[in-house]
Amino acid sequence: MSFLSTSLRRRAAVILGVLALSALSTACSNFTSRQPPVWVWFDMKKQDKYKPQAESPFFTDGRASRRPVEGVVSQETYRPDVAYSTGITEAGLYVARNPEPMTAELLERGQQRYNIYCAPCHDRTGTGKGIVPSKAIWVPGNLHEERIAAFVDGEYYHVIANGRRSMPGYAKQIPEKDRWAIVAYIRALQRAWKGNMSDVPAEIQAQVR
Ligand code: HEC
Repeated sequence: MSFLSTSLRRRAAVILGVLALSALSTACSNFTSRQPPVWVWFDMKKQDKYKPQAESPFFTDGRASRRPVEGVVSQETYRPDVAYSTGITEAGLYVARNPEPMTAELLERGQQRYNIYCAPCHDRTGTGKGIVPSKAIWVPGNLHEERIAAFVDGEYYHVIANGRRSMPGYAKQIPEKDRWAIVAYIRALQRAWKGNMSDVPAEIQAQVR
């Protein structure tokens, strides 16, 4: 009996000790205090580093931030092929033809991206009667309209990247290759729009009505 109660007492003491310790440790971080926190282990809270624009006695000019070595070009912004990445040639003309090789994968990618980024306004066929203009007074162009269908490929690319008049640009959402994929798919939509019975294989013409 007495043995049992000592072990119980001991257990109670341990539990109390743990509770007190955890209360102490939370007290360090959960209450506002002007005192610096008690750090038993620094982990990564405290480390040798320079913050932006800080001073440093290590360099003769006293600055911790260093300039890039002269002639450095950042990989992210390096665009060796201006025509590819802007849709405009160095002569200032819209790129006449899509520089991406026309493949089934490119068209599929273009279809998928078009349906995500363009169809909400221009609808999946390109007539401009998407869900957005059905709810708002906003008239997206009809991609089959003669004036727009006559654009060269680079002009579509440019509109996708920069927008035009009331249409916002999509450069942030759509990377360069995907823009060209969408351009390719717009051509497919336009070709389909002009399709007639002679485009349908003879053996299934009877089913198309
Ligand atoms: C938020 C709605 C919206 C989305 C999304 C949108 N457009 Fe447009 N688009 C418009 C509107 C509105 C116009 C008409 C702009 C004007 O004439 O003021 C337009 C016009 C155009 C034109 C014709 C420009 C001209 O000179 O008349 C093209 C080409 C075009 N969009 C392509 C696209 C493509 C490709 C996408 C997908 C990457 C896309 N748009 C996504 C709203 C949208």
